[in-house]
Amino acid sequence: MFRQMRIDIETVLDNDPAARSKFEVIFTYSGLHAIWAHRVAHKLYKRKWYTLSRIVSQVSRFFTGIEIHPGARIGSRLFIDHGMGVVIGETCEIGDNVVIYQGVTLGGTGKERGKRHPTIGNNVVIGSGSKVLGSFTVGDNVNIGSNAVVLRPVPSNSTVVGNPGRVVKRNGERVGDRLDHTQLPDPVIEMLRDMQRQIDDLKSELRAERALRRSSTNPELIPEGEPTL
Ligand SMILES: CC(C)(COP(=O)(O)OP(=O)(O)OC[C@H]1O[C@@H](n2cnc3c(N)ncnc32)[C@H](O)[C@@H]1OP(=O)(O)O)[C@@H](O)C(=O)NCCC(=O)NCCS
Repeated sequence: MFRQMRIDIETVLDNDPAARSKFEVIFTYSGLHAIWAHRVAHKLYKRKWYTLSRIVSQVSRFFTGIEIHPGARIGSRLFIDHGMGVVIGETCEIGDNVVIYQGVTLGGTGKERGKRHPTIGNNVVIGSGSKVLGSFTVGDNVNIGSNAVVLRPVPSNSTVVGNPGRVVKRNGERVGDRLDHTQLPDPVIEMLRDMQRQIDDLKSELRAERALRRSSTNPELIPEGEPTL
């Protein structure tokens, strides 16, 4: 148990450049306190002392602002930074070396029963405010951008952003049809082009009409001083 606690403290020091000393980490990191409380709650949950485990979890939530359901399974070296507003559901599984920022929900969609929360791989960063909802897997080495809403499985080695979340990077390469910001459409240019097209059409119609009149037997039909096109 003490070995695991030492690893937890080192995880904070490794992940947060603002963390100055072990003393500071032990006494001021609510993410750490929530993880330690969860270990106790999870042990009680496994012994089927469900209500007691919920009480431990809710007391921890009161002090840390982080709600981890006692049934959730979390791996080694989880770092919850800032933490306030984090919710981790009952059937959620989290791998090793995962970083979770404030406001993250690992929840269900309200439609499923049984396993209804996500399974998070190893080395995953879940940005602040993002929601991962449903019973699917987020692969290893995934970055989830802050405020993303992820509703589908995410392949390993990728970056997901947006609402609904979409993969924008895989194996270090950009994917998808994101806008090329140097080539945004210009509505004024488009309107001018459209006007030019209409002028060209009118000109060719007039030329055709004039040619028809010239070829006709009555040259009087062509007024004098008519402009050239
Ligand atoms: C997603 C993130 C992890 C970066 O991952 P990455 O793999 O390095 O991705 P990149 O920075 O190369 O960005 C890839 C694309 O996604 C876009 N992007 C990055 N984060 C985004 C976000 N949160 N929302 C929308 N788009 C985002 C980038 O602009 C880039 O778009 P482009 O290809 O058109 O230029 C990072 O941007 C992020 O959101 N981290 C969360 C940090 C956080 O929550 N901090 C809180 C501290 S208190």
